[in-house]
Amino acid sequence: MRNSKIAGLGFYVPEKVVTNHDLTTFMNTTDEWIVERTGVRKRHYFDPDKGETNFGFAVKASEIALQRAGLTPADIDLIVYATLSPDYYFPGSGVLLQRSMNFRNIAAIDLRAQCSGFIYALSVADQFIKTGMYNHVLVVGSEIHSSGLDYSDYGRHVAVIFGDGAGAAVLSATNEPGKGILSTHLHSEGKYAEELAVIYPKSSAKNRNPIEELRPGGGFYPVMNGQYVFKHAVTRMPEAIMEALEANHYKPEDIDLLVPHQANARITQAVQQRLGLPDEKVVNNIHNYGNTTAASIPIALCEAWEAGRIKDGDLVCLCSFGSGFTWASALIRW
Ligand code: UT7
Repeated sequence: MRNSKIAGLGFYVPEKVVTNHDLTTFMNTTDEWIVERTGVRKRHYFDPDKGETNFGFAVKASEIALQRAGLTPADIDLIVYATLSPDYYFPGSGVLLQRSMNFRNIAAIDLRAQCSGFIYALSVADQFIKTGMYNHVLVVGSEIHSSGLDYSDYGRHVAVIFGDGAGAAVLSATNEPGKGILSTHLHSEGKYAEELAVIYPKSSAKNRNPIEELRPGGGFYPVMNGQYVFKHAVTRMPEAIMEALEANHYKPEDIDLLVPHQANARITQAVQQRLGLPDEKVVNNIHNYGNTTAASIPIALCEAWEAGRIKDGDLVCLCSFGSGFTWASALIRW
């Protein structure tokens, strides 16, 4: 049976850099707190005055990924777009990407799995390629968090973590035996849905857009039970990695590169320790970008590839954990 392989990767972050020190000019926080608790030193924020958009970041990342895959928009058979911060409530950002890049009238699937969005999207794309329905699928993770964060004391533990940006991968069919995406493993546990959530605009409310919910701590802002999320993340991510390894008869030491969702540097460290992996086998870039949710894995994967950290034949493992709760892994023979 044929597999899908990653034929091209690209990422884009907006120009505006916001350091921890910059945050201290309008928030009650410190560089020391942020670095010690999260590892984040700076992040990129979109600039509304420049007309920057979520789908606009996706366009920039996708153009690079397509060019590296040696393909044009006409070659793409499907878009799978992961985001928790879409441009509109509806339609999804996938169709805005389709319009902007002049793709054919192909399907654009918008996928909502938060920090696991990219791996979920990769899995959807992989199934369409494995069944033979499509040959080339564009997978995107893109986020604008900075316009929706609560910078007051209610939300400062959440606000300091997140950053904006996008990553994209072109998946193409391959008949090379043992190469490409070996397996993907997707999970959710909805009983924790409200532990990390943005509740509004909620369709079941009497009035979907009550202005009072814009107050600090209100429903339009993300709420997070941080320590609770942390504890689940450091359990579920190693579990998902082991699931992927066992499904393919590998052990942790067989991994050449682990690309975890960049949630918090301390979460990545805990996952690394549980698996007994050395530093050079684990990608860390949260200090530069913060947590970019659905974009974090493709940005980290792309940077690692650009730095020459992924060679032909390497075993690459992706893993994620986030709101839902959702968690996932993917094992790739490059
Ligand atoms: O990507 C998807 C999933 N998200 C995650 O994986 C995030 C998981 N959780 C975490 O990474 C951590 O829980 C956080 C980094 C979000 C927060 O770290 P924490 O160690 O859980 O801190 P906390 O929220 O329990 O706050 C500890 C203290 C509190 O002060 P008191 O009550 O001890 O006096 C907070 O008010 O730190 C205070 N605090 C801050 N101080 C300065 C909270 N946020 C800040 C801040 N700056 N930004």
